[in-house]
Amino acid sequence: MPLTDGVITLRHPTAADAPAVASAVQQSLPELQPFMTWAIPDYDVSAARQWIFGEFNPGEEQFVIEDSNSEIVGSCGLGPIDNLNRVIELGYWVRSDRAGEGIATRAATLLARHAIQTRGAMRVEICMSVENNASRRVAEKVGATHEGTLRARLLLNGEHHDTHIWSILPEDLELD
Ligand SMILES: CC(C)(COP(=O)(O)OP(=O)(O)OC[C@H]1O[C@@H](n2cnc3c(N)ncnc32)[C@H](O)[C@@H]1OP(=O)(O)O)[C@@H](O)C(=O)NCCC(=O)NCCS
Repeated sequence: MPLTDGVITLRHPTAADAPAVASAVQQSLPELQPFMTWAIPDYDVSAARQWIFGEFNPGEEQFVIEDSNSEIVGSCGLGPIDNLNRVIELGYWVRSDRAGEGIATRAATLLARHAIQTRGAMRVEICMSVENNASRRVAEKVGATHEGTLRARLLLNGEHHDTHIWSILPEDLELD
């Protein structure tokens, strides 16, 4: 079932989305490459299909983000749930020509609610390199709590990055 706040919609991708996903990635490469290891210069329709069919990311729940014209403006997803602790990680990216419109904040809010209300998570984590100030701001705007900095937690383009960790608990969200 799609998730929507009336402005954006999150839905599971289908094979038909592969060209639009590949095109969105291609036009956003300069912004994606520093922080998303899968964003390589020859990312193409075949790579998008592999993402759609979960070949890169078994156990993850992926969504495309659509605007009100049903145009794909990015994607977001949940990592595999840690069932023992009911913890799940949330991630997102937005097409560069649509950055700054609040799309990632809306997507992360919808996804955090879905993680808690539908997937049974009691804690949603958002992690980003300490160099990723835009993503840090998204976590802040979603209402997540900054819990600390993990040393050398992410390996990006051959370099270890210290990583901010943020969390969202059910009481942090306005749930239906
Ligand atoms: C991070 C990203 C998802 C943000 O998407 P977005 O739709 O532009 O996010 P929003 O519009 O909801 O909010 C972005 C906020 O960051 C701010 N911001 C943008 N660039 C910034 C920067 N370099 N430094 C500080 N703040 C910045 C914006 O001003 C905005 O805050 P504001 O509303 O207070 O003005 C997008 O930039 C992206 O896809 N980056 C590459 C992939 C990535 O890093 N994904 C996250 C991995 S953890």
